[in-house]
Amino acid sequence: MMSECASNRVNRRRFLQQGAAAATSLAIARSAARSQEKSAGPVRVGVIGLGPRGTYLLRSLVSYFPEVTVPAVCDLKSDRLQAGIELVKKIKGTAPAGYGKDELDYRNMARRDDLDGILVATGVQVCGRIAVDVMRAGKNVATEVTGPHSLEDCWAIVEEKERSGKHYMLLEQCVYGDENLMVLNMIKQGLFGEPYYAECSYVHDIKVDGSGKSRLVEADQTLSWRGRLMVEGRGSSYPAHGIGSAAKWLGINDGDRFTYCNAMMTDPREAHVQVVEQFGPDSKAAQIRFQMGDFHTTLIQTAKGKMIRLDYSITNTRPYSRYYLLQGMNGCFDSRSGIYVRGTGPRVSDPEWRPVGEFLEKHRHPYWHKDAATALKTGGHGGMDYFCLRDFVSVLRDDHEPWVDCYDAAAWNVLNHCSALSIDRKGAPVEIPDFTKGKWEDPNWRKDRPTPVSVLSG
Ligand SMILES: NC(=O)c1ccc[n+]([C@@H]2O[C@H](COP(=O)([O-])OP(=O)(O)OC[C@H]3O[C@@H](n4cnc5c(N)ncnc54)[C@H](O)[C@@H]3O)[C@@H](O)[C@H]2O)c1
Repeated sequence: MMSECASNRVNRRRFLQQGAAAATSLAIARSAARSQEKSAGPVRVGVIGLGPRGTYLLRSLVSYFPEVTVPAVCDLKSDRLQAGIELVKKIKGTAPAGYGKDELDYRNMARRDDLDGILVATGVQVCGRIAVDVMRAGKNVATEVTGPHSLEDCWAIVEEKERSGKHYMLLEQCVYGDENLMVLNMIKQGLFGEPYYAECSYVHDIKVDGSGKSRLVEADQTLSWRGRLMVEGRGSSYPAHGIGSAAKWLGINDGDRFTYCNAMMTDPREAHVQVVEQFGPDSKAAQIRFQMGDFHTTLIQTAKGKMIRLDYSITNTRPYSRYYLLQGMNGCFDSRSGIYVRGTGPRVSDPEWRPVGEFLEKHRHPYWHKDAATALKTGGHGGMDYFCLRDFVSVLRDDHEPWVDCYDAAAWNVLNHCSALSIDRKGAPVEIPDFTKGKWEDPNWRKDRPTPVSVLSG
């Protein structure tokens, strides 16, 4: 039987939970009301960076979101800029203004008064700085997954977001994956019990393109931004595709936070060998000293005594793979083996993995349940890109904070800096900053926004 004291505690917890749930519903209802007020007009988006990724995002925005208009685009390369302008003109009938006469011309674009938000898809080294400038110019902003790259970038996007009150969204699409959102749904339904350990990864051989030519070294033997990443840094330099889901599953920044990490890597071998094969042993390219190892593992400890393992490689000779694992008190999801939930399956005494597909039918997230056909039709990354862009359009249209905000972007991407430091110190622990400055302790502090979590029951 429960003591009076324990019973009071439970009642108080229920009271607080009910209060928080009511506040959440109210905030989301307010956001919906704002949405009705605002949704009459177009959602006006500018795009900076029209490489393959930026062009793809631009095409998706103008093709699949009828409410989106694009008044301006920007790229330093005139052929890419022109192609972007033509693309919008062909689909929407109106040519956007073009910017990119120098590296800071995007600031002139950000000062226009006909933009609700700007999407930044430049290379990693400048993405964070541009996002800060865009917010400083009074515009909402979304960046590609690279987002803020250095420790300074991470603090800068948080500080500028707080100063300007503008929205910052990290366009991390893997958190929207069908299985990734199903796991989130199953966690919210309590099927795994309390989650306490996760594994995640990004293993993508990007050292060559489809024709087998280096993506790190250009034809003229200068470094691309990807090559600079490998020469100037080490550590988990592209963490968001892996860590995003693990962080959302474990409630990072929503009741828990990263505290420190330890990292290790192998020596770098693969990029050098490829470059020598392509350009020859006596070439200028063969002299390049890549310092990023071929395989990295970073172990991350959380304030609530949980742990995450993040694997990372952009040079391993193998097909693309992103594997995940979520361990809870009542079961486990392992993308490479299946799902186990205690007490289910044919033989309780001899547990077996069950295929993920079985669970997808029953626990598919409402986003996928309702709109998988549309998402898959748009192509990008098996449909994940669609949901990510749809949430970005929703942030601009309804003027609400995003699910993956500046605090997530900073906590996830600072792992680049922290893992590199740990590697330099032979795997010693490195403190991870608390970008929320204590706000993470309240699991409800970010509940006032429509997100893939707010649409879940349970
Ligand atoms: N989410 C994903 O799955 C995914 C996939 C591919 C790439 N990306 C990310 O998208 C971004 C772009 O990738 P990409 O392959 O298109 O790269 P890219 O280098 O081919 O294109 C980047 C473009 O940005 C432009 N640019 C750079 N600085 C600029 C400035 N100051 N002003 C105007 N334009 C500027 C460059 O001229 C270039 O055309 C990167 O951050 C990359 O990590 C994400």
